[in-house]
Amino acid sequence: MDVKQTVALVTGGGSGLGKATCEQLAAAGAKVFIFDMNAEAAAATVKDLGEDRAGFAQVNVSDEASVLAGFEALKAKFGKLNICVNCAGIATAGKILDRENKALPLAEFSKTINVNLVGSFNVARVAAELMAANEPMGEAGERGIIINTASVAAFEGQLGQCAYSASKGGIVGMTLPMARDLAKLGIRVNAIAPGIMGTPMLLAMPDNVQESLVANIQFPKRMGLPKEYGDLVVHLASNSYINGEVIRLDGAIRMQPR
Ligand SMILES: NC(=O)c1ccc[n+]([C@@H]2O[C@H](COP(=O)([O-])OP(=O)(O)OC[C@H]3O[C@@H](n4cnc5c(N)ncnc54)[C@H](O)[C@@H]3O)[C@@H](O)[C@H]2O)c1
Repeated sequence: MDVKQTVALVTGGGSGLGKATCEQLAAAGAKVFIFDMNAEAAAATVKDLGEDRAGFAQVNVSDEASVLAGFEALKAKFGKLNICVNCAGIATAGKILDRENKALPLAEFSKTINVNLVGSFNVARVAAELMAANEPMGEAGERGIIINTASVAAFEGQLGQCAYSASKGGIVGMTLPMARDLAKLGIRVNAIAPGIMGTPMLLAMPDNVQESLVANIQFPKRMGLPKEYGDLVVHLASNSYINGEVIRLDGAIRMQPR
């Protein structure tokens, strides 16, 4: 699809991978709308991009009413949607049993699933409904693309990552069936599974944790840049033949148990 002609929704666009995605999509000519719980951060991204080309709504992606209200604000500002990128997410840690062999509180597991997995589906389903109303674009007759954010933890979850890995494994699992469900409408669905990316989420971890994570990266031996994620989003939107795929963006890391 020709990104210049598009309106893109980016969840979590106030920070990290979402913010860089907004910047790269805007640089490629798209108009960008953000859903983020952190209104201040989202407003700052919009200010950087320019209010004629960007907008935001304060949305909790795991809440149905909040997401529906966000889509009303998007429609009022831009009237249509071509690209949906789900970057909103939380990183949680907790072993199934703690040091005293006490079970992880169920609410901690459920919250991670609700934000990362249910939140992504909640936004994607309404995005697809809006995209279905688009006129087909270009030679391929595309109506839209949905890109969800998984993680390498979907495949190699570390100690304490039961909930996080389950939430990201769910993203991987729903990629192909979503692409199949939406194929007849010309809407593609892909997921990106980042490795260790230099965002506030990662840089908030203790130094020793960051160092041991980087040690497992093969090449280039550094954290991924948020811009590299944003660039991949722009490529996925532009390349009509990539569909139903989960792409690792990870410098060939294979995470170890810790
Ligand atoms: N940084 C990494 O190394 C890495 C690796 C693999 C996967 N990921 C995934 O990439 C995505 C983005 O991560 P990041 O590193 O940019 O994180 P980040 O913490 O920098 O940004 C996340 C953004 O999502 C927003 N958010 C959180 N919960 C929300 C909710 N319920 N509703 C709406 N907005 C919400 C936050 O306000 C924030 O602006 C996440 O899904 C994360 O799991 C990150």
